[in-house]
Amino acid sequence: MPLPRCLFDASEPVDHDLRVTSGTWPAGLGGELVLSSPHPSTFGGPHPFFGEGMVSRLSLAMGAHGAPADALAWRQRMLDTPSARLRAARPDVFEATMIGVRSPFGHVNAANTAPLPWGDRLFATWDAGRPVEVDPLTLTFLGEVGHRGEWLDFEVSPQPLLPMVMTTAHPVIDPDRDVLWTVNTHWGELHVVRWDGEGRLQRWPIEGAAIPQSVHTITQTRDWLIVADCAYKVEPQVLSGGARTEPANASEPVHLIRKADLEATPPGQPVRCTTFELAPEVNHYYATYDDADGIGILFEHTEAAELSMVQGPGDLDALGRPCDPALAGLYGFPMAPDRTTYLVVDPATGAIRHRAEQRDPERLWSRQLNAIDWSTEGRARPTLHHTVHLGYRPEAITQEMLALYGDRVDRSLLPGEEIAPRVVTSSMPDLDVVADWELGVDDLPTSPIFVPRDPGVDPAASRYAGSDPGGHDGWVVVPVLNDAGFRVEVFDAAAVGAGPIATAAAPGMRLPFVLHSAWMPRAVSTRGDGRERVRFADELDRIGELPDDLQREARRVADDLADAAPPGG
Ligand SMILES: [Fe+2]
Repeated sequence: MPLPRCLFDASEPVDHDLRVTSGTWPAGLGGELVLSSPHPSTFGGPHPFFGEGMVSRLSLAMGAHGAPADALAWRQRMLDTPSARLRAARPDVFEATMIGVRSPFGHVNAANTAPLPWGDRLFATWDAGRPVEVDPLTLTFLGEVGHRGEWLDFEVSPQPLLPMVMTTAHPVIDPDRDVLWTVNTHWGELHVVRWDGEGRLQRWPIEGAAIPQSVHTITQTRDWLIVADCAYKVEPQVLSGGARTEPANASEPVHLIRKADLEATPPGQPVRCTTFELAPEVNHYYATYDDADGIGILFEHTEAAELSMVQGPGDLDALGRPCDPALAGLYGFPMAPDRTTYLVVDPATGAIRHRAEQRDPERLWSRQLNAIDWSTEGRARPTLHHTVHLGYRPEAITQEMLALYGDRVDRSLLPGEEIAPRVVTSSMPDLDVVADWELGVDDLPTSPIFVPRDPGVDPAASRYAGSDPGGHDGWVVVPVLNDAGFRVEVFDAAAVGAGPIATAAAPGMRLPFVLHSAWMPRAVSTRGDGRERVRFADELDRIGELPDDLQREARRVADDLADAAPPGG
């Protein structure tokens, strides 16, 4: 059975109310599931990762946010950023390229990859644009993080109003400092950025920290930040329509930066780091917050997964069949079985002191994200790591991708047919598979979340912590795409192998392509909370570079945004 074709369903996003279709919805399950996605109606070009951002929110308690008493509210909205508003006003001047959607205004900030909660605040992130703050209640735009002049932008073509900022879709919130850490890469150099939630950014260049490809994640321990080069490669000739000549790098530098060194150094001055080399390639990685016994990092390797190439007309899939035009634009799925490792690194030398590895070519392919207890206590002492694996999907691998990776793909491991998706629980830190649930081969599970039991019950614990943190006490909630209808499955986090304890769905609901998800304990409005935010109207100093008609549109967008968010809001 094929991948769901609803992946690229470009229908207008609409709200839904989901009802329980099997099992019993757990009484203690609550809070909000939030998801980020690039909506297919705005892909408009070579890669789905460039579609404009949508945020969806599912309330996990019945009867919230306008849903009937026996239903769960699914609410979704295209983000009304300055980029989206300008594109809506003048679609004729926007052009899709292999590095995003550009225009005389500059580059669209798609803000489509991951929701990032910070207390009651919510941000939508992207690798090639500033984080965007969103009102968690109304899902409307509040502001971009940091004035454009505080970032190093990547201006290969004029960007008078919309800068392309190379950063990461996965910043982290430091629970001890209550600040956001992220990166700003610039022509292969790494800069670390700290933002206190209001006001100016602080930025430090990291001495000798090369980034040969890109950065998709930053992770942290109590005392350290960890940044790896990531396996998303853009070769220069591809930007002008040329073909790829090299696969993503097979190994990558990982840089360890001590937070105390940053704090002891004036912003703008270089800070040293420790570097080690990691193989195989990676995009997502998560450090254990407690670093008393070394820096422990879980690496979800993306071995031989060609994310920056997509399939199109004339391509053949891994089984030699013509690719289906309905999947045109789909990026490459892994051509190797999943490999997950947990390393404990000596921060002084970069030497690896401990290594656990999980790999199961018979069952585990195409790991698609995870469900983690993101509370401070859960990150300090993780007990279980839950992952969703999409299975082996020959439709999502082309012969061109296989040829590009050559002998980096062990063809003897490629299954001759589809392998079904699974929800898997692994022990920490040994990565033993302790639970495993197989879904249907026509299902496409997507980014799951962990919801703790009794969040907030311990006044001495952090707000996101349940009564027994770590990842075992609560629920794993998995959105599942299927052409027969979208559904949400709920598992007991301690017993994923027993299968879902409840399923919810809405008649006729089909959800397209989704990227990351997150859990928040509640959704309250943060508009008008008095925080200082960057306003588009404050970023018009280069508006004179535009022709008169585009200047008028930009001023109108700035006025509309000012009306929507008065001073202090
Ligand atoms: Fe990601």
